[in-house]
Amino acid sequence: MPIMNNVYRHTTAGKHLTDLADYEAAGGYVALKKALGMDSDDVLYQFHRSGLRGRGGAGFPMGRKASFLPKDSPHPSYVVCNGDESEPGTFKDREIIEFNPFQLLEGIVMAGYAVRSHQTYIYLRGEYEHQANVLRAALAQAKAAGYVGDNIAGSGYACNVTIYLGAGAYICGEETALLESLEGKRGQPRLKPPFPAVAGLYHSPTLINNVETLAALPPIIENGGDWYAAIGPEKSPGSKLFSISGHVMKPGNYEIVLGDTTLRELIFDIAGGLRPGRAFKTCWVGGSSVPVLTEEHLDTPLDYESLQGVGTFLGSGGCIVMDDSGCVVRASLRLAHFYRHESCGKCSPCREGTNWMEKILQRMVDGTGRMEDLELLDSLFGRISGKTLCPLADGAIAPIKSSIKYFRDDFVRVIENGSPRPEPMWEVAGV
Ligand SMILES: Cc1cc2nc3c(=O)[nH]c(=O)nc-3n(C[C@H](O)[C@H](O)[C@H](O)COP(=O)(O)O)c2cc1C
Ligand code: SF4
Repeated sequence: MPIMNNVYRHTTAGKHLTDLADYEAAGGYVALKKALGMDSDDVLYQFHRSGLRGRGGAGFPMGRKASFLPKDSPHPSYVVCNGDESEPGTFKDREIIEFNPFQLLEGIVMAGYAVRSHQTYIYLRGEYEHQANVLRAALAQAKAAGYVGDNIAGSGYACNVTIYLGAGAYICGEETALLESLEGKRGQPRLKPPFPAVAGLYHSPTLINNVETLAALPPIIENGGDWYAAIGPEKSPGSKLFSISGHVMKPGNYEIVLGDTTLRELIFDIAGGLRPGRAFKTCWVGGSSVPVLTEEHLDTPLDYESLQGVGTFLGSGGCIVMDDSGCVVRASLRLAHFYRHESCGKCSPCREGTNWMEKILQRMVDGTGRMEDLELLDSLFGRISGKTLCPLADGAIAPIKSSIKYFRDDFVRVIENGSPRPEPMWEVAGV
């Protein structure tokens, strides 16, 4: 169960690398200089060789996506870094930005070089004002040192980086809604295809990747794509940051080698286990938009394929843990409320369906639910799933549908008796 430290360097260095001198002393910018001495296509090939999969949720291979950008487009190409990080339970991108902003900037410029882009954007969620300030300060240092701007490191390559703050909408994490927002329009998803690689920002070829994905690029170039591909399982190579929160003793971000660590090890060894006297109830392992898991799944290795094998997704790696003091029906209501609020309203099955899901769960929690409500919810799921423009609606259904599957008795009990307000956590913990 190794906790790995060598992809997201700040954990190795043991301190925050917000000063360029410290970042360079920790080996920073060696990789960018190496990349700029290579042909753009060779840099792209190394990304491809690494097998790195997008860390924003969908897990699409980064190098493959970058290779989809047409080389003969008459339009300029763009790189967009997705730092919207709105998935409940996910707070890893924030830590990369806050403690290791140069590694992200280095990765972005490198990605820009690989896809022949001269303009890149970092889209941050509106609430990340502090992170934006850290990033702005780092960008100023990088520009002054010639790592961003014209003639980077004397190579003749020019790349500008622009930081953009959103307005705090979950849907703006969806890549096409993000691009709409970046263009100054209402943040609503676009119909795909065309995909952003072909017609993205300003209808130009655009590579859009998550913060964690782009920050993984410098060590890949430094050590070679094959080095990265050899870490972890063949189909899920590399390391991944897991944000673990909820009923654990040591919540936080942990970098682990994919496939080497089980869910049990993440919760009980790495994150310090549950509070005294408590038993494991459930967890949302890849952010809140994925099916829940139960005790029988605890020995599942944390990688894309193994988690899919037990019916869930690695997603963003935001693992929310609930012990037996929690109520899954109340948690489902909380999530239904979130998705109803965050639905952009463009398609009616999502706009209306998330509203109905919340209403039905609310009456269950209030003790005025009916037994037929379980079938009603099930029929509602069928009317929404696969019938919307973007995956937000399916993400709203997944945790609730799976909670009913695994904890039906809890739903029946709550329908019969309602759900009392939970005790504050410190009282439950007895501290
Ligand atoms: C509703 C919704 C919200 C999303 N939120 C985020 C987000 O906050 N950050 C992110 O990187 N990707 C998010 N995604 C995934 C992006 O659409 C896209 O797949 C990702 O930015 C691609 O980067 P990657 O390949 O590096 O993962 C979201 C997707 C959906 C459907
Ligand atoms: S599924 Fe929901 S969030 Fe996505 S486009 Fe449709 S209404 Fe908007």
